[in-house]
Amino acid sequence: METVLETKAWVRACKVEDIPANGGACVMIDGEQIAIFNFERRGEWYATQNLCPHKQQMVLSRGMIGATKDEPKVACPFHKKNFSLKTGACMGEEDYQLKTYEIKVEGSDVFVGL
Ligand code: FES
Repeated sequence: METVLETKAWVRACKVEDIPANGGACVMIDGEQIAIFNFERRGEWYATQNLCPHKQQMVLSRGMIGATKDEPKVACPFHKKNFSLKTGACMGEEDYQLKTYEIKVEGSDVFVGL
């Protein structure tokens, strides 16, 4: 059986000040739009695909962030579907799924793990 090794590269995505506190912004990395969220109230950062899988809109970085039962989430600004920022899973009954990325902050730089 073949073993697939996962290699992850940390890519500098933006500066901390590029992302509004308790909000998000979109960055382009390797031709892909990635939504980065600074959940300052919780002291947490998240990164997901920017594409909402419901109607294929590039909007999630502009979604409102919050939490349901302590699960951090983003609500798509279009039809308000909620997605877990931790797992990317749709929190409604549909099984839409977002890609999520590891994220870290070092000094004033934000890195995304690809
Ligand atoms: S486009 Fe995001 S919920 Fe419909």
